[in-house]
Amino acid sequence: MQKSKLLNIILAVAVLVLVIQLVNKNERTERRSAATAAAIKDTLLTKTDAAMSPFKKKSLGVRSEVYPKPAFVIGTYDKSGKANIMTAAWAGICNSDPLSIAVSMRPATYSYHNVTESKAFTVNIPSSEMARYVDYAGRFSGKDVDKFVETGLTPVKGEYVNAPYVKEFPIVIECELTTYHDLGSHRQFIGKVIDVKVDEAILNAEGRVDVNLLNPLIYGGGNYFETGKYIAKTGESLHDIDGMPFVPDYSRKYANEILEVIHNRKSVRHFTEQLVSKEQIETLLKAGMAAPTAANRQPWKFYVITERETLDLLAEKLPYAKMLTQVQTAIVVCGDMDKAGNLKELGYWVQDCSAATQNILLAAESMGLGAVWTAAYPYEDRVEVVTKVLEMPENHVPLNVIPVGYPTGEDLPKDKWRPENVVWKEKV
Ligand SMILES: Cc1cc2nc3c(=O)[nH]c(=O)nc-3n(C[C@H](O)[C@H](O)[C@H](O)COP(=O)(O)O)c2cc1C
Repeated sequence: MQKSKLLNIILAVAVLVLVIQLVNKNERTERRSAATAAAIKDTLLTKTDAAMSPFKKKSLGVRSEVYPKPAFVIGTYDKSGKANIMTAAWAGICNSDPLSIAVSMRPATYSYHNVTESKAFTVNIPSSEMARYVDYAGRFSGKDVDKFVETGLTPVKGEYVNAPYVKEFPIVIECELTTYHDLGSHRQFIGKVIDVKVDEAILNAEGRVDVNLLNPLIYGGGNYFETGKYIAKTGESLHDIDGMPFVPDYSRKYANEILEVIHNRKSVRHFTEQLVSKEQIETLLKAGMAAPTAANRQPWKFYVITERETLDLLAEKLPYAKMLTQVQTAIVVCGDMDKAGNLKELGYWVQDCSAATQNILLAAESMGLGAVWTAAYPYEDRVEVVTKVLEMPENHVPLNVIPVGYPTGEDLPKDKWRPENVVWKEKV
């Protein structure tokens, strides 16, 4: 009896130890994955330390550091009808309608003269197993050798154009020369795509090329590579890392245009030189004045600055408004203390002018303009700068300075949705 009691106790203790270990392990795993996610986020999004930064750049001058480069093989006939191939990396799709491919060739190549005379070429896309043929076609000239004979590749007369394609290559594209441009070292031949032929073995169920099956050869500045691993569908790479969008997902659709504008509004700090018209500024001001105000006091005044000197002076004297040097117009939203009346002490004018400011920023976004709220009030020094530079009367207090212009597109909206910032008091 006593022995079985002892056994029961030992068993219970063992189970308890196991449970504790399991809980600890889960906590450790969760902590570790949270730390990993934070590290990824840190590396991708926030690292600014120059020494550590993956974004630290070194200028290399004028060099063809464009990656990945294609390694196409161009098929042509010479005057006597001899089929030739040459490798070309200075090539790619250059128009959609009509679908066209550009290939640049040096006059020293045999193919250059072939295309100029026959007005046709084929683009043969190699898989990575064909690197040796590509290399050969790029090292020897059809002037000296018959590259089809030497490599054992099979020339097939184009079905639609006067150029041969390579039977063994998985994708062959027949092109008819439409025009060319002499650019300097190279003549860029533009070929209209007449037909595309693809090995059935590399087609997927939808009849489209499976890039993994094709495994196209990639040229990377003196080296050949094969295609890497699949990453994501287009658009998928914008999806969340650790629950936060990597970059805002522009494909995301909101219920209506107003929500689109609200979510796409961003602080624009990079502007083009394009001028904003007086009518556009008036539209912004009307939007500003449509904001709600306490007791309908409308306790505001809007200064519109278009004088270059004034914009530059404000840029010089305000710490966070340097972008004023890039724009031709700025709006200064001010509280008008005379109109604030007995609500002045409560500070309602700040809320009212803030609502007007947000309306202006949203209106700018909706019109394809860019703007950013740079604060004046409550910083006494900044308020003093703005009032002095704009020679304002005492009853006007500048809340902010808003540079307005056309955005370069560099500034992007942020996704600030954080469910944890919401406190739901729900009925249970
Ligand atoms: C990977 C690679 C890419 C090349 N890209 C080009 C190119 O875009 N344009 C060009 O004129 N020559 C290019 N060449 C060099 C030509 O392929 C080479 O001069 C070839 O011998 C020309 O052949 P052909 O005289 O029979 O026309 C490339 C060579 C290699 C190996």
